[in-house]
Order: sequence, then C-alpha cells, then structure tokens
Amino acid sequence: MALDEATRPLSLALTDEHEMLLTAVRDFARREIAPVAARYDESGEFPLDTVRKMGAMGLMGIEMPEEYGGAGMDTLAHVLTMIEIAKADASHSTILSVNNSLYCNGILWFGSEAQKREWIKPVASGEAIGAYSLTEPMSGSDAGNMASRAVLNDAGSHYIINGRKSWVTSAPFADRIVLFTMTADPPRSPHGDGGKTKGKITAFLIDTSQPGFSRGKTEPKLGIRASATSEIIFDDYACPVENVLGGVGQGFKIAMAVLDAGRIGIAAQALGIAEAAYEAALEYARERQAFGAPIGSYQMIQQKIADMKTRIEAGRALIYQAIITKERAMAIGGRYTTEASMAKLFCSEAAAYITDEALQIHGGMGYSKEMPLERYYRDARITRIYEGTSEIQRMVIARNELGLR
Ligand code: CAA
Repeated sequence: MALDEATRPLSLALTDEHEMLLTAVRDFARREIAPVAARYDESGEFPLDTVRKMGAMGLMGIEMPEEYGGAGMDTLAHVLTMIEIAKADASHSTILSVNNSLYCNGILWFGSEAQKREWIKPVASGEAIGAYSLTEPMSGSDAGNMASRAVLNDAGSHYIINGRKSWVTSAPFADRIVLFTMTADPPRSPHGDGGKTKGKITAFLIDTSQPGFSRGKTEPKLGIRASATSEIIFDDYACPVENVLGGVGQGFKIAMAVLDAGRIGIAAQALGIAEAAYEAALEYARERQAFGAPIGSYQMIQQKIADMKTRIEAGRALIYQAIITKERAMAIGGRYTTEASMAKLFCSEAAAYITDEALQIHGGMGYSKEMPLERYYRDARITRIYEGTSEIQRMVIARNELGLR
C-alpha cells in the first residue's frame, strides 16, 4: 500500500488494555525469563516451563480471537509483547513469534471455520506448540523452488508427503506445523527449476504425532540457542485432504502473506534485543570511571549513545508505520509488504550495530559471559537472516518501489 496522505491513518493509540498488557509482560519477563536466560543459552535446552507460562498468560496467541483460544488483541499488543520478551531473552521471543505469527496467522486468514477451531485453539492457548516449515536444504531465499512433494492417493482421500524440510523453528517440540510443499512433479534438477514450482505449492496442516513424520538433526546455533531448530522429514506421511490450507496451489502466496506479518514481529524482536543492550550500555557509561570521570562524559562514548538511541527510535517508528499500514490493509484490503520489510531490515541492522557498540562500551566485560552483552550480540545476528535475509528485504522493497516482480 502506498504511503500517501490519502491512505495514511493519523495515529496508533496505546489503550488502557495495551498499558495493562505491557506492565504484566514486562513484570513477567523480568521475574521469570531474565533470570534463566543465560542458563538456557548455555545449555541450549528448550525452555518449556516458561513457554507454558507464556501460554497461560495468553501470549502464545495474542492476536487470535478468544473463540479460537487467543487473547483477542491486535498487532500493537503483539509488538509490545515481542519487545519486552526479547529484552529478557531472544530465544523466548522467537518461540512466541513463530507460534503467533507464522503458525496461527495463516490458519486464521486462510483456514476454514473447522480448521480454525481444530488447529488454532490448542496452539494459541499455549497447550501445544506450533511451527512453520517453508525452507528446504536446497531452497532458502528462493523459497518457491522446492523439491518436497505431496501426491494425492488414488482414493482422493489423502496427500502422501515425502521430503525433507530444514531450519524449522520449534520443530523439535512442535505438535502442529503449517507445511509448504509441492503438489506437482518435483523439478528434474536437484537444484530446482528456477522457481517455476511456485504456483504448485500447497499449504498443509501437519499433526506431528502421525506416522511418517520424524525430526532430523537439531541445529547447533550461534545464538537464540534455547529456541530449538531442526530438520523435519516426511516419509509417506498421509495427510487428509481436509488438512489442505487455503486451496491447492495457493501455498506460496499464503507463505508470503504470513511472512509479511512475521517480519513485523522479527523487527520488534530485534528492537527488544537492541534496547536491552542499549540500556546496559547507558548504565555502564554512567558508572564506569576512566581517567577520573564516568566514561559517559567523553564525547566518543556520547556519540555512540546518541547513534544507538536514534536508531532505536527510528526503528520503532518504522515498526509503528508497518502496524498502521497492516491494520489498514486488514480492514480495507491491500498489502503492507514494503512497510514490514523496511521495519525488519532497519531494526535487524540497527540491532547488529547497537549490540556491537554496547559491547564495545563495556570493553573486556562486554566480551565476558559474566555479562549478557555477548549473548545480545550473538542473538541479534539471526534477525538479519531468518524470515528473509537483509538482502531479500532490500530486494522486496526495491521491486515494490520499482513496480517490478
Ligand atoms: N503477499 C501475497 N502474495 C505475494 C507476496 C506477499 N507478500 N509476495 C509475493 N506474492 C505473490 C506474488 O504476487 C506472485 O503472485 P502472481 O504469480 O499471482 O503474480 C507470487 O506470490 C510470486 O511472487 P514473486 O514472483 O515475487 O516470487 P519470487 O520467487 O520472485 O520472490 C521472494 C519471492 C520475495 C524472494 C520470496 O521467495 C521470499 O520472501 N524469500 C525469502 C523466504 C523467507 O523469508 N524464508 C524464511 C522462512 S521462515 C524462517 O526463517 C524459519 C523460521 O521458522 C522462523
């Protein structure tokens, strides 16, 4: 949607409900998540206990209507929650984001009434964990170029799914997955067919307790180490035709539409990590003495503080603009792809800069595992990669601006 005056709404209002949510989430994140974040980062263990607590608070389906087990709130509520949880621990915010944006949204927007009741409710209420599976070993940025395959059986009752998907966030613990795979012959080349499969991709609702589903290796990651990521393998998995989401061949567009919303969440996550690093740096700059004065009194540190704060507020403004454009698109139609990509691009790159400078302000202490700075620095790195790399965001923004596809 173009950002012209005719389409631009005036403001984004923080209601009493948002304020209450913010207070509750901030308190929970400080009390329950921040104290265990370093331990989970070190062990790489999935924080099931605190994830269940986030579910009990309604945070695992913030934007889902209450009738489907959600909290019935809006995108601003989701963003405020993501920022606060990410400030305490990025891994928790990744699990929250995938559950809310990538899993639930697709079913809410494209599912039948029966699918919404059956597939959103347990995940939005936090009883079950949801995941989203688009990437394959040979297809990441070029998401339309798939090799996995679903073939309708002779009875017309089930799709038989075969193939391997990779980099699936939460997969080692996921009970339900929105899967994107081809409902057509796979390309002859193992490197794909240059994206010609896009129109043949279909979304399926997968129950991971069924035969034919298994999990591959869990990725040993640089950051967000408590958010489990693995391959998933389909070996003659029989998926009932009722579990097709949004129609055969509609999968690519569903995946892209869902990623638009997901990218706003990742922008918020990046902003939360950046804020945590910035606040630590501010405190350190006030307290740490060098050459007889607090280091914050020196202009070289002041320049860093000014540049960090400016990027944080610029990122927040881009996120708010993306929310406004999204809410408007949801109400009257249109897309918010460019705004979501700009918010993710800017915030993820700002988070890289801010966590790096915050670590620098801390000097040797920033490099030590005694402080959370090195964790912020590692955790921020993924936000420039998942849900579309910075290069893909730039491509999306430029193509939309130029009117190209
Ligand atoms: N909303 C709705 N429809 C969209 C859309 C959107 N945002 N973007 C594209 N489409 C539609 C187009 O209109 C087009 O439809 P028509 O054919 O009817 O015209 C169709 O989809 C194909 O679009 P393109 O030709 O533009 O597709 P492309 O292949 O050239 O490029 C891309 C698409 C933007 C590069 C896309 O492949 C992309 O976003 N890649 C990055 C993938 C990604 O983000 N992966 C991360 C996966 S999730 C993850 O990180 C793991 C996790 O668990 C967190």
